[in-house]
Amino acid sequence: MNTTGDATDGEGVRLQKVLADAGIGSRRACERLISDGRVKVNGKTVSWFGERVHPRTDEIQVDGRKIETWHEFRYYALNKPLDVESTMAPGRGTRTLIDFVEDLTERIYHVGRLDTDTEGLILLTNDGELAHRLTHPSFGVTKTYLADVPGPIARDLGRRLRSGIVLDDGPVKVDGFSLVEQSGRRALVEVVLHEGRKHIVRRLLKEVGHPVRRLARTGFGPVQLGRLKPGGVRALTEKEVAALYKAVGL
Ligand code: URA
Repeated sequence: MNTTGDATDGEGVRLQKVLADAGIGSRRACERLISDGRVKVNGKTVSWFGERVHPRTDEIQVDGRKIETWHEFRYYALNKPLDVESTMAPGRGTRTLIDFVEDLTERIYHVGRLDTDTEGLILLTNDGELAHRLTHPSFGVTKTYLADVPGPIARDLGRRLRSGIVLDDGPVKVDGFSLVEQSGRRALVEVVLHEGRKHIVRRLLKEVGHPVRRLARTGFGPVQLGRLKPGGVRALTEKEVAALYKAVGL
């Protein structure tokens, strides 16, 4: 496997994913093409859509037409600084993500968003299927946040957050909570959750009496921000990409 190639080169990639990545249609539409017998791999019709293929070496045809399957997938982590908007569009007087990835030649997209006043880990990739699964709450990928809040923190706060808090748009439960540091009236807490709703951490902590003063995302599933400096971009390692794939069942 290779972080700049197809992410499961060793065992191959499911045929419908390869077709969808090549822009043939949605995964579902590609599954239909396969079961309708319209797809050939190395000259043989494949009508089972669990088939794994090697996009770099296998020749794949749809309705007799060869398709371009070899994609250079890229995976990066960015430490988004404060006051940067989570968009790839150029800002109007504000900084956006594009300001940090101008040197990258290929088109990449951000996996989800952070508030402009939230710092920390944003994943960037051109692997659409992975990005979709990482952001869709049904795949349950957790994100980890570090929040600077007014203390002191009550002993049972973690238990309350784990059992669920009702917000305006419905209940939310955290997957993890811990007190990292507490001194005087200031506390640093870590919150882990697989929710994608807007301002979710800020709203949640405000609801329990600890309005966020500063918020950073330190982890996205198995990927950690680590020591990446604000504004820094790094390619994910092969191990990290494999762990992301595993986390979303690809
Ligand atoms: N929750 C928030 O409140 N803000 C973010 O940027 C991310 C999660």
